[in-house]
Amino acid sequence: MNILAEIKRRFSSVLSEYADHPAPLLDMIRPVQDARHGDYQANCAMPLGKKLGRPPRDIAAEMVARVDLADFCQAPEIAGPGFINLKISDAFLLASLETARRDARLGVAPTAQPKTYVVDFSSPNVAKSMHVGHIRSTVIGDALCRLLRFLGHRVISDNHLGDWGTQFGMIIYGYKHFRDGAAYSTQPVKELERLYKRVNALLEYHAGKAKLPQLEQALADKQAEHAAAQAAPKSDDKKQAKRDAKHLKDLEKSLADLRKQREVVQQKIAAVEKDDALRQDALSHPEIAQAVLNETAKLHAGDAENRQLWDEFLPQCRASIQKIYDLLGISFDYEYGESFYHGRLGQVVQDLEKRGLARQSDGAMCVFLDQFETPMIVRKRDGAYLYATTDLATIAYRLEQWRPDAILYVVDHRQGEHFGKLFAVAAQMGCENVDLQHIGFGAVLGEDGRPLKTRSGENVPLDSLIAHAIEAAHAEVCRIDEEAGLLSEEQREKVSRVVGVAALKYADLVQNRESDYVFSYEKMVALRGNTATYMQYAYARTQSIFARGGIDIESLRNSAAVISINEPAERALAMELLRFSEALEECGADYRPNHLTGYLFELAKQFSVFFEQCHVLKAETEALRDSRLLLCDLTGRTIRQGLELLGIQVVEKM
Ligand code: ARG
Repeated sequence: MNILAEIKRRFSSVLSEYADHPAPLLDMIRPVQDARHGDYQANCAMPLGKKLGRPPRDIAAEMVARVDLADFCQAPEIAGPGFINLKISDAFLLASLETARRDARLGVAPTAQPKTYVVDFSSPNVAKSMHVGHIRSTVIGDALCRLLRFLGHRVISDNHLGDWGTQFGMIIYGYKHFRDGAAYSTQPVKELERLYKRVNALLEYHAGKAKLPQLEQALADKQAEHAAAQAAPKSDDKKQAKRDAKHLKDLEKSLADLRKQREVVQQKIAAVEKDDALRQDALSHPEIAQAVLNETAKLHAGDAENRQLWDEFLPQCRASIQKIYDLLGISFDYEYGESFYHGRLGQVVQDLEKRGLARQSDGAMCVFLDQFETPMIVRKRDGAYLYATTDLATIAYRLEQWRPDAILYVVDHRQGEHFGKLFAVAAQMGCENVDLQHIGFGAVLGEDGRPLKTRSGENVPLDSLIAHAIEAAHAEVCRIDEEAGLLSEEQREKVSRVVGVAALKYADLVQNRESDYVFSYEKMVALRGNTATYMQYAYARTQSIFARGGIDIESLRNSAAVISINEPAERALAMELLRFSEALEECGADYRPNHLTGYLFELAKQFSVFFEQCHVLKAETEALRDSRLLLCDLTGRTIRQGLELLGIQVVEKM
């Protein structure tokens, strides 16, 4: 049972007698930090007292008299100005532990309102290998699928691979003009990646060359504007002076932005110019941008040669991506890439036109939206369809195929505008009954606070990221095992593979997904802090107790032995165990797995306190020993289940 939700449910009818909108008051019912005040606290009497002009203690007393919690709480206490302190009754606590102990779901009931979710996650562009930019969508999306499934929902995971866009025009062009045949026959994916990068560098070079004069001009204009603003005499009017100062600040910010843009463009140009071969290519392929578009267009139009190349490239690209998924232990129900929707795009545009939503503008087909400055383009002047067109077709397909209640898009928050427009257009097309949600996330940063890159300034490939994490885990595992010497070298390596991948995932999931975070191998594998290593260690510790005591824990679990609660540390641990479903439901409510990592950390800490203060194997009586062993078992199972819902495995020994 989700105790917090149940308390809120019981309070809600009482609260609605005092306020038209009880929701904010309900939010004031929370778990308490300090166990001396009970387990939960309702602080809503204070604001109500203010609003109604009555002593909050009186209101608290009235509410306590009306709300019925007797089946799981002790008699509520009113403290201080009008806090209502709630303490879970021992009888309920023990009964819940009994249920959890014998239940494969640890007493977490599946939702009474199951929904169908489509989760669109990972979704890399397959013409290049996966890099650090893909880790967050992949890991968060997988965890959300597992969590929602466990909560009792129907979940369909779909990897919306970028397998049809301009990147393929790029590698086709590269293949036709720059390929190294020998390299391609031995390591095709590596060669395709090289071609992609080469073509990309040339595209950026020419785009930069074209953009630089405009940038210089814009900079000169802004500089002049800034100089004029600076030279203007200070206004005597205070408000005006304030406005002027703000204007000056804005100008400085625009100047800095423009300078930064110029620097980036200059770097891209320099990267080509300092490399003789690249510079030669740049000179001999001045029209490369158009040519790449043409290759893409030919592919889309069914050109035999390009189609045959695509057929040849795609399985290889997908295989290289699959290797990463295998390392991470991630799979999908469906992997309908963008190419799957190609035949439906014309229809999408026709529909939009028919409904009067799309119209021609400058030769392109556009949907204009009130809330957005720029329209959503669904067909370019040259007839090409876009990312957004495919996404519209994808929504239509998913609705038809699975009738979902919600579609979650686990995608970098920088695509917020794209999804804002997409959802607005979908709503206008009549998709009101589906809840479309962009589950955005921030960037992975290097120690310098900038997006994580390799020393040469490229995105860090995921395979090397995983390999490094495993290496770092190995060092930490050896350090932990140094004294105990529990593991052979072979076991250490096995454990490190699990711990390394777990560390990588956990370090990502522990963050509030919307924040950026600084990546650090040392921190993520460390035994200190809220890390996977700490959690796995806590789990292994529960298992080592059974091993040391020669306990067959499964038989004990199914025996007539009972759990009893005597010490404060036992009670605190038991209460934390009961909160598992609270944490899971929180994750499901706002699609943030960090509620679960936060919960698991608390649980592991409570377990540590319990383990320090209460003898388990050396308990005074056999009954007490069994009771404590059962608490260890529940803790271990909860940690294992929690980690599994995050896509993380445990190790039995560490
Ligand atoms: N392939 C896209 C990218 O790499 C992400 C796709 C996300 N999913 C979607 N339905 N748009 O940016």
